[in-house]
Amino acid sequence: MEIDIEKLIAKLTVEEKIKLLSGGDAWHTQEIESVDIPNITLTDGPHGVRLEDKEAGEFFQSKPATSFPIEAAMAASWNQDLIEEMGQKMGEECQYYDVGVLLGPGVNGKRSPLAGRNFEYFSEDPYLSGKIGASFVKGVQSEGVGTSVKHYVANEQETNRMVVSSEVDERTLREIYLLPFEMIVKEANPWTMMCAYNKVNGTHMSQNKKYLVDVLKDEWGYEGLIMSDWGAVSDKVASIKAGLDLEMPGPGKEDEKALQAFEAGELTIEEINARVKVVLELVEKVLTEQKDVDECDFEQNHKVARKVAEESMVLLKNEADILPLAEDSDLAVLGKFAQEPRFQGGGSSQLNPYNLETPLAEIKKHGTVDYAPGYEDEEINEDLIAEACEIAQDKDKVIIFAGTTEKIECEGYDRKDISIPESHIQLIKEVAKVNQNIVVVTNSGAAIDIEEFEAQARGIVHAWLPGQAGGSALANILFAKTNPSGKLSETFPIAYEHNPTHLSFPGDIKQVEYKEEVFVGYRYYDAKKLDVKYPFGFGLSYTEFEYSNLELSKRKLKNGEGLVVSADIKNTGDYAGQEVVQLYVKDHEAVVRRPEKELKGFTKVHLEPGESKRINIKLDERDFSFYSEKLGEFAVESGQFDIMLGSSSRDIRAVETMEFDSNDDLREPLTVNHSIEKLLEDERTGAEIKAILDEIDIDQDNNFYSILLGMPLTVATGILRSFNFSEEKIEQLAEILENTDEEL
Ligand code: BGC
Repeated sequence: MEIDIEKLIAKLTVEEKIKLLSGGDAWHTQEIESVDIPNITLTDGPHGVRLEDKEAGEFFQSKPATSFPIEAAMAASWNQDLIEEMGQKMGEECQYYDVGVLLGPGVNGKRSPLAGRNFEYFSEDPYLSGKIGASFVKGVQSEGVGTSVKHYVANEQETNRMVVSSEVDERTLREIYLLPFEMIVKEANPWTMMCAYNKVNGTHMSQNKKYLVDVLKDEWGYEGLIMSDWGAVSDKVASIKAGLDLEMPGPGKEDEKALQAFEAGELTIEEINARVKVVLELVEKVLTEQKDVDECDFEQNHKVARKVAEESMVLLKNEADILPLAEDSDLAVLGKFAQEPRFQGGGSSQLNPYNLETPLAEIKKHGTVDYAPGYEDEEINEDLIAEACEIAQDKDKVIIFAGTTEKIECEGYDRKDISIPESHIQLIKEVAKVNQNIVVVTNSGAAIDIEEFEAQARGIVHAWLPGQAGGSALANILFAKTNPSGKLSETFPIAYEHNPTHLSFPGDIKQVEYKEEVFVGYRYYDAKKLDVKYPFGFGLSYTEFEYSNLELSKRKLKNGEGLVVSADIKNTGDYAGQEVVQLYVKDHEAVVRRPEKELKGFTKVHLEPGESKRINIKLDERDFSFYSEKLGEFAVESGQFDIMLGSSSRDIRAVETMEFDSNDDLREPLTVNHSIEKLLEDERTGAEIKAILDEIDIDQDNNFYSILLGMPLTVATGILRSFNFSEEKIEQLAEILENTDEEL
């Protein structure tokens, strides 16, 4: 449907225009009948379509749709093509239900494992989030359906999420929290973005012109629509002025106020028209791309959901090859989650699954199974545990389901710790007394405390919240119909207290300080040289992979140049399998403190037993850079860099060193407050200072000399004068001091 936007804008009254800048109701934009502007439907969410089912009469009931694995799981697949395919399936379901914009993906950072909504976010690593997020968006949009990348920005907790100010320095924002948004905007051009509830450095995101306009629109060139999170607008006029296009939900409560502001000249017609134009462009796009479909292949989509679940499950432990299980094993399956699966998170993303499998039924297809629930809820139930032990004692192997419940992990509130319920831990511990052949299957959207039951588990499979096809996906992994290939999209620490946000999360009602700066997740554990339970990027397979012949296409790089990193990966075991090859970059030395390594590339490669393939990963200038507050942009500092290929962030298999010869001048300005030592080391002043010091009558082996070196130039000259050193030389030093002024 074509709309002559300019003409329409000319026809609309100011009242109508203001009305159009808020939704029509909870899930639609405003329709304006007088000029035939229809509405479009916006609906959650990140792991499937949650279209409100009005006829069902129940709050929160939605039309049946495919429940794909949660975002944390999608990222753990490290498979961009697969996530694009999954996005495309979501797009098909949107078309089927006439949904114009799907409200996802969420790409906030996993700063703390306690954040209640971590399951809805991809990773602790912004690059992985950006790549998987871009694939998601490309997939959905390939079907002519928009996405809404959310929650822009720095919304990393549920506590006080609607009022708190995230206090984050600019470098941290750029390198960690803005990066996934930037990558997705540049790579996949999402039709819409959703601003977060919270403030950033004191300003509500719905009114934050710096990040809505200066960064998103002007710097990154974003031309799509920015909508608010549901209820995030507290001052419609301020939001319009700050570049927010659409307030959701609607209708707007402050339309009258906005009209008055217009009449008083505080809000200009140009500002209003600019926002109206973007809203109309979205409506036009949705209506143009809308397909008239009355069928949807939910069976096929279920298969894709299964594939994503299979590729995302992470084999954490496999002592004495307890896995895979032999077909026809005599098994005990314990834990209520086996029959009532934990397959998705709670809150706005919670949808009505089209076809929900249970792990119990799927495991039964492969072996002889006795089942006992083992627990009812979080409280220990001795009777249920006794029943489970009874069943488990003479079985070949025992599979126990454990993990977070919705009471623990959900939108709207944060977790108190990273433990799973006592009732689950106790079940594992008691069963271990009667049968040691235990495989624990864990469900959660973020790191859990594995330490609490690890000793009792010979095998551990982290299944995340695997969506509606999680049952068969798990059975396929357990019985080696599929070789596990998922790798953790976040670190599982030994203890929650090791996490860098431990002392600052979730702050108070006013603010939360991102004190750990860029040292989030593995960036922190690496810098602190802390052992972790399972590192970022970790995951076992039923086979082994060998890395060799790492090669860099260039050893020296200049600005604007890139290189290709290649290596041979060989499957040296007996199972066909997939390896996620991870590329990390380390800057040897920098004017700012940089992480020990940062993920800058990855690829997932399928290999038959004995097969070898050469992988190629491209790097460009940006992959060596950091955000320089001095220059106000990403820049590269000259020097040496390590290029590391690894099977996880703590299992680096090959390293090569190269050099970057950069034009960017990242040196800090020298001032009179810098020490003599610093001025001596710096190429801008070193020679001059050295010549003077060498001529001064001072014993350079004496302590006094060392002390002098530590003094600021301004103090050092005064001290030298008071000790009657050569007046002429002091004069020369003083001259430098004079020239030094603010900057040399
Ligand atoms: C959530 C969003 C969601 C919206 C609509 C908000 O509370 O933060 O992620 O898209 O509701 O359901």
